[in-house]
Amino acid sequence: MAFTVTPLSPAGAAEVVGLDCSRPLAADDLAKLHQAFLDYPILAIRDQDLTPQQQAAFGRQFGPLEAQDRSPYTHPDDRDILILSNEIRPDGTAVGIVDAGDFLHSDSSHLPEPCRITMLYAVRNPSRGGDTEFCNMYQAYETLPEATKRRIAGLHGVHHVSKTKNPRVVVSPDRPGAKDYYEARAKVVPEIAQPMVRTHPETGRQALYISPRFTIRVAELADDEGQPLLDELFKHMKDKRFQYRHKWRDKDLVMWDNRCLTHRATGGYGLPDIRRMHRTTICGDKPFYRPAA
Ligand SMILES: [Fe+2]
Repeated sequence: MAFTVTPLSPAGAAEVVGLDCSRPLAADDLAKLHQAFLDYPILAIRDQDLTPQQQAAFGRQFGPLEAQDRSPYTHPDDRDILILSNEIRPDGTAVGIVDAGDFLHSDSSHLPEPCRITMLYAVRNPSRGGDTEFCNMYQAYETLPEATKRRIAGLHGVHHVSKTKNPRVVVSPDRPGAKDYYEARAKVVPEIAQPMVRTHPETGRQALYISPRFTIRVAELADDEGQPLLDELFKHMKDKRFQYRHKWRDKDLVMWDNRCLTHRATGGYGLPDIRRMHRTTICGDKPFYRPAA
């Protein structure tokens, strides 16, 4: 299959045109796409017509899919597909996760083995808003002062899924039952320590691996030292040079690398305007830090 890969942004995004993800890829196409993904950790694959089963099958070519733990919001045709949507049924229940990803994060960094790749398929875009913003964490790391790089080498961020444990975020009032969900999670889910600098297992590059959404403190530091350090790093991550804002086209399938990116949903839309995305995630491995030789 002849397809092209064209850069969209110096922050690591490219668009892929001419690929049909509804059918199994030939080995050489898969290898070419995989290399493009290492070169550009945000790939916007244009013009896809994908059923939930086809999207899941495409994802499995990159590795096993993560089981979704939010069963009311998985797709009935394939339980590995998670529905993100602001649509509310007449009985008041939500069709999908309403406030998904509203603060900068790397997907499932609160788990011991966070997902490697996220694939998001635009089923329905709102008439305005709904962009996804990415921050290239290779670049965020590489542009840190050398003294900061030395300071954070070998340190760990403590990550947790519950928004109620994190003063830097708020629970969306738009999602039914969200506060109860996060309060319950705070009681049962353990905290996870992740390296603040993550070595990418395939490219060997170092990336900053923290986020305002999931990183609640620095494991090795008391809060009077650790919280200002996190604030400083989160401020650095806002530098426009590392950002790519994806404006979704209909039928976009975007895949991104959670090992070297953070991202957030920017919102900016509301009912009766409906946004609906189908999400799959590919299993990953345990993050590690290997000092440069
Ligand atoms: Fe996310």
